[in-house]
Amino acid sequence: MEMILSFSIVISIFVLFTNLEYGLASCTGVLNQGICKASEKLSLLQTDECSEPPIKDQQEKMATQRTILITGCSRGIGLALAEEYINRGWQVLATCRSPERAKELTALLKKHHQPPAVALDTADDGTILRAFQTVLQRGVRKLDLLFHNAGISGPEDVLKATRAELDATFSTNVSGPMVITQTFLPLLKAAPQPKLVFMSTIMSSLEMNMGGGMMAYRVTKTALNGMVRQFAGDVSGVIVLAMHPGWVQTDLGNSVGPAPLSPAASCRGMYDTIEGATRAHNGKFIDYQGQKIRW
Ligand SMILES: NC(=O)c1ccc[n+]([C@@H]2O[C@H](COP(=O)([O-])OP(=O)(O)OC[C@H]3O[C@@H](n4cnc5c(N)ncnc54)[C@H](OP(=O)(O)O)[C@@H]3O)[C@@H](O)[C@H]2O)c1
Repeated sequence: MEMILSFSIVISIFVLFTNLEYGLASCTGVLNQGICKASEKLSLLQTDECSEPPIKDQQEKMATQRTILITGCSRGIGLALAEEYINRGWQVLATCRSPERAKELTALLKKHHQPPAVALDTADDGTILRAFQTVLQRGVRKLDLLFHNAGISGPEDVLKATRAELDATFSTNVSGPMVITQTFLPLLKAAPQPKLVFMSTIMSSLEMNMGGGMMAYRVTKTALNGMVRQFAGDVSGVIVLAMHPGWVQTDLGNSVGPAPLSPAASCRGMYDTIEGATRAHNGKFIDYQGQKIRW
């Protein structure tokens, strides 16, 4: 009896998700499909964050400017990336785990009349869906660049790490970027020359890892590189890159010694490198100066 009950529950959940995924027949076009899909899923979430009204001048701006969405903008490279793209005239959708705590980011966005930061935790699918809806409600109808910057280092010692610790690092560094890309893909596809950048690291290189250490960081970033190749192969019309930002002066960068490169210099280099990326770069692993990195 218990088995039959469990089986029925599993079937009901499967049917529910199947309906969510495939009950989109009435939506036309790639963008509409994505919006319908997210809206249906969102209806399952209890949130009042979805009530933000569209802002007219923001909508007009977004129709003409190029738009980037960046994860992990509260500090470090993400914050510097937001500043770099603002200075280059882009509309910046800066996301972070806790906008209310990201004072420096909030001040930057306010100073440059950019839309407020959007809450997005890469390890939490609910926040990803809500972020998508917030962006739609602000009138965004295309994304020229999606930059997966957020990342954590996780447990360092392969002899001591627990399954839960590794899973948590994987969720933030790998599964998150996958789900975010799936969710925002309709907006990317609506841009004329969309690009998708995953922040990797030279430490992910299997060929160069002869010294061990920083286990979860290396392993999850190597997996992220695999994700880059998957998206590069499976998604047409989008240029996909794995990026190494250099060794940068941030909380993370300085945790392994005094980093040589300022966040601003790294981001200037990444900006120019990404701007110069063509179809020939699709699925490639490059650094902030455009140099190829060995897998
Ligand atoms: N610094 C370097 O030398 C270096 C070198 C190679 C690659 N990278 C890569 O560059 C990226 C940025 O690193 P960083 O040096 O700027 O590190 P950082 O100073 O430690 O900043 C990490 C950022 O990621 C955010 N973050 C962490 N977990 C998150 C989650 N679950 N959801 C959303 N945001 C999350 C943090 O937000 P909170 O403030 O909420 O924690 C913070 O904004 C990382 O992917 C890192 O692997 C850095």
